[in-house]
Amino acid sequence: MQHANPWRDNMKTRQNVYKLQDDTLAWYSRAVEEMKARDINDPTSWWYQGAVHGYATYPSALKYWQDATGYPPSPQTVNSGFWNRCQHGTWYFLPWHRMYLFYFEQIVAKTISDIGGPSDWTLPYWNYCEAFDTSAPQSEQKQALQIPPEFGSSQGPNADFAALWIKDRRNYLLNMRNVNPWPAMNETEFTNSSGDLSFGGGVTGFAHSGSQTGQLESLPHNVVHTDINGAMGNPDTAALDPIFWLHHANIDRVWQVWLAQAGRHNPDAAAWENFRFKFHNANGQPVEMAVKDVGTTEQLGYVYSPAFPLASKVQARRAAPAMDVVGATAASFAVGDHMSPMNLTMVPQPARSARLKAARGSEEKRTILRINNVKGKGAASPIDLFITNRDNEEGNEENFVGCIGLFGLENASTPSVESDGSGLNFAIDISDTINKLRQRDDWDEEKIRIQLIPQSKQDKDVEINVGRVSLHSEID
Ligand code: C2O
Repeated sequence: MQHANPWRDNMKTRQNVYKLQDDTLAWYSRAVEEMKARDINDPTSWWYQGAVHGYATYPSALKYWQDATGYPPSPQTVNSGFWNRCQHGTWYFLPWHRMYLFYFEQIVAKTISDIGGPSDWTLPYWNYCEAFDTSAPQSEQKQALQIPPEFGSSQGPNADFAALWIKDRRNYLLNMRNVNPWPAMNETEFTNSSGDLSFGGGVTGFAHSGSQTGQLESLPHNVVHTDINGAMGNPDTAALDPIFWLHHANIDRVWQVWLAQAGRHNPDAAAWENFRFKFHNANGQPVEMAVKDVGTTEQLGYVYSPAFPLASKVQARRAAPAMDVVGATAASFAVGDHMSPMNLTMVPQPARSARLKAARGSEEKRTILRINNVKGKGAASPIDLFITNRDNEEGNEENFVGCIGLFGLENASTPSVESDGSGLNFAIDISDTINKLRQRDDWDEEKIRIQLIPQSKQDKDVEINVGRVSLHSEID
């Protein structure tokens, strides 16, 4: 039988891990075991693949790397130009990780067929976002937050899937706040001059530890990393956790769903389309790929089984507007486990009124909280942000504006060839919360206070310092 488009018939479908009806995960576990037995200098080994994302030998990273077969790697391998390539804080975040998954999936598939398994293994995705799908059965919403049981538990590995476990994961059940897809899905632009108020990140060159983090990279991506924590909490070890790849398949899927919305499109700048990255294919041969070759999953021969969020339900938000600062913290401050609410110093009147006038005109005007130059060390837990104008509103749901994950904190705080050392930056749209608080009788703009509360007690070695928190209102 003749097909008009035979290539399309070979399209693979990446499935929801909780809907799998076959032995995809059993084969995954066997392949991971096989790849772990390969030498760290072998591009198809588990270790080499992990190091393509990030590799380091300071103590908290070394505790994972020293388990590698053939450790330490040869200096030629470390300096080959294939390691420490992951793109963070940049508009290359999504395409780089798509390519990374594409070659990883082929390496796993070949490993499986070489040990006598099927030839068409396909990476599944972990759709924790389903926790926000109010049309799904409650049991499914809850289950979505759980690391699939095949990956083990805090008690240790699942005996039938032993290679899918890794030591020191902090949480096996995600906090629902950390998987909200809407701040990202609601953005209309892939990139723009604000960088952080875009879906896909700001314009940069090669950026292993950049500072132009887009909304999808920020949430759920970074926050999920730091919620699971352990190896996942640090870019220099994250890809050693077998769940990493299912997390990224989900992020990759959300990009594709976002793109299916009316009016959404990928950047058409040559600097984005023509940028090239290097990987190894399933035979361990070096290959190169351009960003324009991975703008859709179909270009790479795969699709995702449909899952929440679905394209049709999304309300577009207006593109990131010009913004004026209306208030900010007066000095940098440390974030401990118990931070008292902190006053924002507001731009004096009447200048502020002029800045806010436009903002009060319409429901659609946006208010943004920026958290800049977050520096420190250690693998921090996710941090919740609250805004209030009253006493004793610690951690109330109605004051909650969003959460941040300090993924890559240490790298972003250390000046190096990869980073200017100025720390991590976040932008959170707080329009809905602040519009509600503005209805209060006792609302007073001079008394806007913010509070950062870690979702769980930070480890002893964690240090966090915030350079500035500022409030921005839209102008016309
Ligand atoms: Cu390059 Cu989820 O990280």
